[in-house]
Amino acid sequence: MQVTVIGTGYVGLVTAIGLADAKHDVVCVDLNKERMEQLSNGVAPITEEGIEGALQQNQSRLTFTTEYPVSDLYLVAVGTPERADGSCDLSAVEAVVKLIHSIQPHAAVVMKSTIPPGTTEKLQMAYPSLRFAMVPEFLREGTAIRDMRNPHRVIIGTHDQQLASDLTELFKTNAPIVHVDPTTAELTKYAANSFLAVKISFINEIARLADIVGADVEDVAHGIGLDPRIGPAFLKAGAGYGGSCFPKDIAALTTLAQQHGEHLHVIEAADRTNEAQLEYVLQKIAPKRGLRVALLGLAFKPGTDDLRDAPALRLAERLTKMGVIVTGYDPAAKTLLDQKDTIEEAVTGAEIAVIMTEWDEIKHVTPRRLTDNMKTARLIDGRNCWAFVEEPGNVQYEGIGRPNKTFSNNPTS
Ligand SMILES: NC(=O)c1ccc[n+]([C@@H]2O[C@H](COP(=O)([O-])OP(=O)(O)OC[C@H]3O[C@@H](n4cnc5c(N)ncnc54)[C@H](O)[C@@H]3O)[C@@H](O)[C@H]2O)c1
Repeated sequence: MQVTVIGTGYVGLVTAIGLADAKHDVVCVDLNKERMEQLSNGVAPITEEGIEGALQQNQSRLTFTTEYPVSDLYLVAVGTPERADGSCDLSAVEAVVKLIHSIQPHAAVVMKSTIPPGTTEKLQMAYPSLRFAMVPEFLREGTAIRDMRNPHRVIIGTHDQQLASDLTELFKTNAPIVHVDPTTAELTKYAANSFLAVKISFINEIARLADIVGADVEDVAHGIGLDPRIGPAFLKAGAGYGGSCFPKDIAALTTLAQQHGEHLHVIEAADRTNEAQLEYVLQKIAPKRGLRVALLGLAFKPGTDDLRDAPALRLAERLTKMGVIVTGYDPAAKTLLDQKDTIEEAVTGAEIAVIMTEWDEIKHVTPRRLTDNMKTARLIDGRNCWAFVEEPGNVQYEGIGRPNKTFSNNPTS
């Protein structure tokens, strides 16, 4: 089958590779000419494990262009960022659908972008000749290729029986395929992200209490996570979440609810807790003019170079405004900070190092590499990724909700 994917960012590119993996011919369209040239030369524009190999494997089935081709099936994976009022900016999605309609008014249009509940139905009313479906994307940056090959589920939201059946074939998987209406599919995506954000904020609140009462939040998380009704995932206390999805999706969902006179109290609280969590890290740093702080890890999570809404950048901005001298290190992401090429360079002369992204390299950094280079070897582990052992070390360690024990560089999982 020939498929056209519009937007070749994290979702569009990975989806296109997945379809090419399944032997479909895929035309990828993006406004970004430079990105299309890079991709035509087999160069991945994003950092994702296994993406270069997957691109090369599928080169013969992938075409990259800035021109919209005539196609019977378009997958839409353009960005849906946050507007100033918190709502979802649908302008790219709307522009794409309008263009598709002008090219092929009877095409099937599958929304992969995250769009607020009710959007697909509105588009269907505006363009009755097009055949719409919403198939939300659940990949995680950092493991996107793996997730695409082994999804936990596929949600197909459409009223069009033929399209539902074609998409079941197109996204063939051993995972459960759930058939629903488009609005339910849209809400499923937002509910999934909101629930994960709630879990993170929940454990972050427990971590703050653990700091007060002298408990270890990592052991608490392990203890509650063994209950299958709770589960161990997303119970990692730290500096809070960020990234290209959670903040904007939570803003879009809570704003939509408010527009309907409804309050999503739990989700709104998770968002407030997340804001407070960064303040909590700031408190631990106790910023003052001239203090030298090194941020270890800048991307919003390991395995990606994505800096959208990265907590490290938000922290750097706050610190810089307070007159703190900030350096940074990240193995993949490139920022405008005073960013160094190695951990040693970043921490040289620093009084505090703060782990903001749990890259393997940062988890495994030896205390020696800090003590040999820092002015005062104080480490705030904003991802609780170092593990404790019996041997005392020379680094003054502080995690989030972990008692002040000695530590090693044995990373936690
Ligand atoms: N990144 C993730 O982890 C993730 C996961 C699940 C869902 N999503 C959702 O998927 C959507 C895309 O996210 P992303 O992270 O891949 O975004 P992205 O910003 O990485 O990529 C979007 C791409 O669309 C292109 N584009 C914009 N307007 C266009 C147009 N009119 N025609 C052609 N191309 C156009 C941009 O140039 C860009 O390359 C968003 O709605 C997001 O919420 C993202």
